[in-house]
Amino acid sequence: MHPENYPIEYIDWKVHFFGRDFFVTPDVLIPRLETEILVKRARQILQQKWNQPTIVVDIGCGSGIIGTSVADLADEVIFLDISPAALAVSEQNFRSHFPEKQAQFIVSDLLTSLPAIPWDSQILLLTNLPYIKADDWIHMSADTVHEPRIALFGWELTGFEMYERVFAQIAELELTHFQLLCEFGFDQREIAESVLKKYPQWQSSFFADYTGIERFGEIII
Ligand SMILES: C[S@@+](CC[C@H](N)C(=O)[O-])C[C@H]1O[C@@H](n2cnc3c(N)ncnc32)[C@H](O)[C@@H]1O
Repeated sequence: MHPENYPIEYIDWKVHFFGRDFFVTPDVLIPRLETEILVKRARQILQQKWNQPTIVVDIGCGSGIIGTSVADLADEVIFLDISPAALAVSEQNFRSHFPEKQAQFIVSDLLTSLPAIPWDSQILLLTNLPYIKADDWIHMSADTVHEPRIALFGWELTGFEMYERVFAQIAELELTHFQLLCEFGFDQREIAESVLKKYPQWQSSFFADYTGIERFGEIII
């Protein structure tokens, strides 16, 4: 007997995302359809001809859907998550689709444990970090209560704080040749724009979800 509103995906242990089946457990967020928009844009970027080796970094990978869905177009994928249990799920998913491919699975607070990347690589950072304001249950469906809190809530004030931290880490790492695609909340475009003003050296733009709300960011250096 499962609790009320228990998600069917956790009962079946399965989700279909971007043409593939993924294993899910209550340790990971149930992938959302909108995230396929981020994957489509990432694939367009990766299909451009680059001369350097291409490394994809999936930050807060959860079940690993993002990195796995673009892995055929990258030389290597690095999966990062603060949750070892989520990383184990992402590794199982990645290996089931790409048994031979180069990949790393690293417990990391955002980019803190990002391994050294060869300077001549092209880096594509992909991320759907927790962005919901602390305990903002009013905007969430009833079954969300069964998903890991660590996958949902950003921080106290705006929910965008985790993105502020990751941007600051990128600036500190002085990464060159990188692009970043991120997904955030339906009401966070303005805050994203104001935070990104701190980094005038980056070119940033936004793109919309299926309902026309701009909740994806693209940053190019
Ligand atoms: C919204 S879920 C996204 C999962 C997956 N990428 C997807 O799109 O379905 C956010 C993920 O970020 C991870 N996370 C939370 N805080 C983190 C941190 N400080 N550093 C790295 N990962 C973190 C969570 O464990 C969770 O897997």
